[in-house]
Amino acid sequence: MSDTRPIVVVTRQLPAPVERHAAGLFDVRLNATDTPLTAEQLGEAMRTADALLPTVTDAITAAILGISPRRVRIVANFGVGYNNIDVATARSLGIVVTNTPDVLTDDTADLAMTLMLMAARRAGEGERLVRAGAWTGWRPTHMLGTRVSGKTLGILGLGRIGRAVAKRASDGFGMRVIYFDPPVPIGEARACGASPRESIEDVLRESDFVSLHMPASPENRHLMNADRLAIMPRHAILINTARGDVIDEAALTVALERGTITAAALDVFEREPAVNPALTKLENVVLLPHLGSATTEARVAMGERALTNLETFFSGTPPRDRVA
Ligand code: DGY
Repeated sequence: MSDTRPIVVVTRQLPAPVERHAAGLFDVRLNATDTPLTAEQLGEAMRTADALLPTVTDAITAAILGISPRRVRIVANFGVGYNNIDVATARSLGIVVTNTPDVLTDDTADLAMTLMLMAARRAGEGERLVRAGAWTGWRPTHMLGTRVSGKTLGILGLGRIGRAVAKRASDGFGMRVIYFDPPVPIGEARACGASPRESIEDVLRESDFVSLHMPASPENRHLMNADRLAIMPRHAILINTARGDVIDEAALTVALERGTITAAALDVFEREPAVNPALTKLENVVLLPHLGSATTEARVAMGERALTNLETFFSGTPPRDRVA
């Protein structure tokens, strides 16, 4: 008997409970080897499946979306960010696109705090020293970092994750939190302990730590460029859990080499998984492999959220997380 359920192509391996659930709901094509699909394979999926469930590492370009003949009607992204999908083309072709907000907010905010603490307290550098067998013992002047508690945190982009970071910083670390994100209602910002500033530059000038939480977009590309890095105080630390291209990585490397700012902590990069080799040589930068949402809880919830979006769509109702 043939399976008449919608065909769903899942581009990467998902947590086992999500894959089991998906197989119960759809005629699902899983990726057991977890090998990234090529552009040709993604195109083939667009031709043969009813839905695509990609991740943030699959480039769903205009050419892939526009393939003809095309069968896919919905692209349910596994991820809150969807800059991997040409949403404007999807919209023009009537292809529905969904994302997975909310369920990874706390996990990503926790990771932003992890990065802030690691950079401030030189945790990566210390770990490398111990593992290299190069630690010669405690001494009063050894590996001094900077205090986090009570300092000023500047947040650029006060969406869900930015607000969760603000709350952690103000409630947990007694930090003074300032932000720039004009569309956010002042009341919502105050509820997470954040005070507005008139411009990005005002935030940068006043902050001991700056955490980036804006989406990737053409306007936000290289938002942190050489000029803006130069505005930050020399003792400041920059944290990025948003998207790599909001920082001009080459300019940041120069700023870290010259000590224009003290340190940076990055979970995302301009050309993932490639990391600028010059950055890997610097001690004053923490480098993590895009771990923002990497908890079992978040990744299962992201998968479930994507499945709910697909189920809703195939039941004929607009999915809750529709972005196109
Ligand atoms: C997202 O969801 O956008 C993250 O970057 C990947 O978890």
